[in-house]
Amino acid sequence: TDKAAILLASNRGPVSFTLKDDGTFALKRGGGGLVSSLSAIDPSAGVIWICAALSDADRRAARHAPGGRLDQAGHDTGGQAVRMLDIDPATFNRAYNAIANSTLWFIHHMLYDTANQPVFDARFRKEWASYEAYNTAFADALAADAAKGAKVMVQDYHLTLTPRLLRDRRADLRIGYFTHTPWAPSEYFQLLPDDVAREVLEGVLGADYAAFHTRRWAGAFLDCCETVLGAKVDREELTVTHAGRTTRVGVHGLGADGDFLRDRAAQTDVEAHVTALREQVGDRKLIVRVDRTELSKNIVRGLLAYRHLLREHPEWHGRVVHLAFAYPSRHDLPEYREYTAAVRRTAAEIVEEFATPDWQPLILHVNDDFPRSLAAYRMADVVLVNPIRDGMNLVAKEAPVLSEKGCALVLSREAGAFFDLGQDAIVVNPYDVTGTAEALHQALTMDDAERIARCRRLAAAATALPPGKWLADQLAALE
Ligand code: G6P
Repeated sequence: TDKAAILLASNRGPVSFTLKDDGTFALKRGGGGLVSSLSAIDPSAGVIWICAALSDADRRAARHAPGGRLDQAGHDTGGQAVRMLDIDPATFNRAYNAIANSTLWFIHHMLYDTANQPVFDARFRKEWASYEAYNTAFADALAADAAKGAKVMVQDYHLTLTPRLLRDRRADLRIGYFTHTPWAPSEYFQLLPDDVAREVLEGVLGADYAAFHTRRWAGAFLDCCETVLGAKVDREELTVTHAGRTTRVGVHGLGADGDFLRDRAAQTDVEAHVTALREQVGDRKLIVRVDRTELSKNIVRGLLAYRHLLREHPEWHGRVVHLAFAYPSRHDLPEYREYTAAVRRTAAEIVEEFATPDWQPLILHVNDDFPRSLAAYRMADVVLVNPIRDGMNLVAKEAPVLSEKGCALVLSREAGAFFDLGQDAIVVNPYDVTGTAEALHQALTMDDAERIARCRRLAAAATALPPGKWLADQLAALE
């Protein structure tokens, strides 16, 4: 079999499958920031992308492909060599749902609260063992597919143990690791059982180069290495030395892909959505948000801020529409199902309180529709991005690139994007509902010339590091 010179490893791959009634596979592109960033990889560069089967349909597709190679089984992967790992469903679910998306996601986004506190009991230990097995499956696949001296780029919190496991198997490889989420402050990180906390950090330190979206997340990682492992960290040079090895730490703040977006947003399906939206909204101002329905995205407080705006500023009645896209995510987890219900409930209350026969104050869309969200970016007067914590947030970067009127951006200071866009956004504390309402008012009333000038600078900052360059820089750092 062919060995690759460059390998990507991530839980979610570039494609996933659903099974149609006639037994054939329907293919869809994976959502979220990770897939958009990695899709920029040049398929001709001898790259293999290793990912997990996420559903029964994926597992069937993987099983029917030779060695899991989807491209060799005739699936349209955009020319990309993709190996999909068929991991036993119980193991996968414990690793993905219980450890990655519950424990580790909640730790790094600081989502635990008094109603939901972590309990590290025997059940957790079983889940953790599955996470180890799942990481081992990735390390085995990478070790098998990598050419001598190959560069491997391991992605995100699903795969924290993989760099070390891979180094144990193949000392010749050059291993990079990238975290797409925030990294928890060391005191919060230490909610994890001590041995688990150590295993995560030592897992990542198996890489030669470990990178983050911002200085802030990189700094938190260094703090954790120092406090939990007693590692020697150099905050100037960005290095961690532990157990005789040094790992370099890097910062690569992913930007939007301006060329791709402008091209995609000019196509006929998006155009049709623009026309429909124009009819629906008329000459009213449009406030847009686009998120996975995700606790850290803070959608409910965003809706409450809009409600407060309408209560405090009745002059906006009939003159503004809030378009909220909150597409479904991780519905195997009860927290996410409940959150989706809370979003719907809050939206319904707002409509109930303010709607009139000729004014729909809020439109909530809960299905994933990429072309329609591009149309909304084109039409937006204001874009609201108010996460509690976010590794980067690409919506904040994509919308200013496409906005035709020069949108204002209301942006949480807790998003990674704040470090690139904070100058020209209207910055909010995501917990402050009345403050966010005032920021929306300020955004709606901003002088045209100023708003347009700010948007132009936002778009320039947003596209400063497009995905292709983001990837190339990290590969170069592995030289
Ligand atoms: C975030 C994570 C990604 C993940 C994406 C979508 O952006 O950093 O690793 O792929 O969310 O979540 P999902 O669980 O659907 O893959």
